[in-house]
Amino acid sequence: MSAHFSSVTSSAALVVRTRERLAEELNALRRAGRSLGLVPTMGAFHAGHLSLVDRAREICDETVVSVFVNRLQFAQGEDFDAYPRDLQRDLELSADRGVRLVFAPDDQVMYPTGEPRIGVDPGAMGQRLCGPFRPGHFRGVLTVVAKLFGLVRPELAVFGRKDFQQAVLIRRMVHDLDLDVRIEVAPLVRDADGLALSSRNVYLTGDERRDAVGLWRGLSAAEDRFNAGEARAGRLLSTIRKVVSEHPRLRLQYAEAVDPGTLDSVSEAREGT
Ligand code: PAJ
Repeated sequence: MSAHFSSVTSSAALVVRTRERLAEELNALRRAGRSLGLVPTMGAFHAGHLSLVDRAREICDETVVSVFVNRLQFAQGEDFDAYPRDLQRDLELSADRGVRLVFAPDDQVMYPTGEPRIGVDPGAMGQRLCGPFRPGHFRGVLTVVAKLFGLVRPELAVFGRKDFQQAVLIRRMVHDLDLDVRIEVAPLVRDADGLALSSRNVYLTGDERRDAVGLWRGLSAAEDRFNAGEARAGRLLSTIRKVVSEHPRLRLQYAEAVDPGTLDSVSEAREGT
C-alpha cells in the first residue's frame, strides 16, 4: 500500500495525513462558508460506508471522511493487524462519491503521546449487548469519535445503524456532554442475500457466509411476527433464537429487546423511527 497521498489527483479525493494540513483545509472551507459533514470510518469501503457519504452530502455542503483503523477500540485478541486496509481504493470511491477531503492519520498523528490517559467512558450502557464480548471497545470508539469531532468540528456526523449500540452511545455522548454536532443515523445496507455489508465479511468462508445470513433471517422472522401483531419481546426474541439455531455455524451471543435511548430492556416492542 502506498503511504503518501497529499495532493489532488483526478481520480482520488484530497487526502491529508496531518493535523496541520487538516486544519488548513478545514479553515479554507469554513472561510468559504461551507457547512461540513463528517463520516468517520476505518476504511475498506463498501456500499454501507458510501451510503453514509450520500446522506452527509444531502445535508451539508462538504463531506469529510476519516479513515483510521483505531487500535484503541480493538479488544485483546481482536483483528487489529488483519483488519482490511486499502486506502487507494477508498480514495477513489470517495472521489466518485463527491467527498471533498479524506483525513487519514496514522497512530502517531492520532495518538501522539500514546494511548490517551483520559477517554470517554460509556458507563453502564457500554456493558450492555456487545459490551461483555468486547472489553474496552466502546470506550475506544467514543474516545476516537470525540477526538475526531474536536479535530474536524463538523456541523453533522453520520453513522450507520448496522452498529446500533455504537450509534446509540454516540448520540448519548453528544447529548450528555453537550457536544455541538448533529448526529444522523443512516439505514443498514445489506447484500442481495440479506447479509449486512461489513468490511469483516472478507473473513467468512463460503459456508460461513451462507449461514451468516441466518442472523438476518432471524431478525426478519421477528419483524414479520411483530407486523402480524405480536409485540411481546419474549416471543419475538424466541423467534430470533429459534431461526438462528437452525444454522449450524451460528452461535448467538445475545438477542435482546432494548430502549434505543437508554439500552434498558423492554418487555414490549414498538415501531421504531
Ligand atoms: P467502520 O466499521 O468502518 O464503519 C464506519 C461507519 O459505517 C459506521 O458508522 C458504521 O455503522 C457504518 N456502516 C458499516 N457497515 C454498514 C452497513 N452495512 N450499512 C450502513 N452503515 C454501515 O464503525 C466504525 O468504523 C468505527 O467504530 C468508527 C465509528 C469509525 C470509530 O473508529
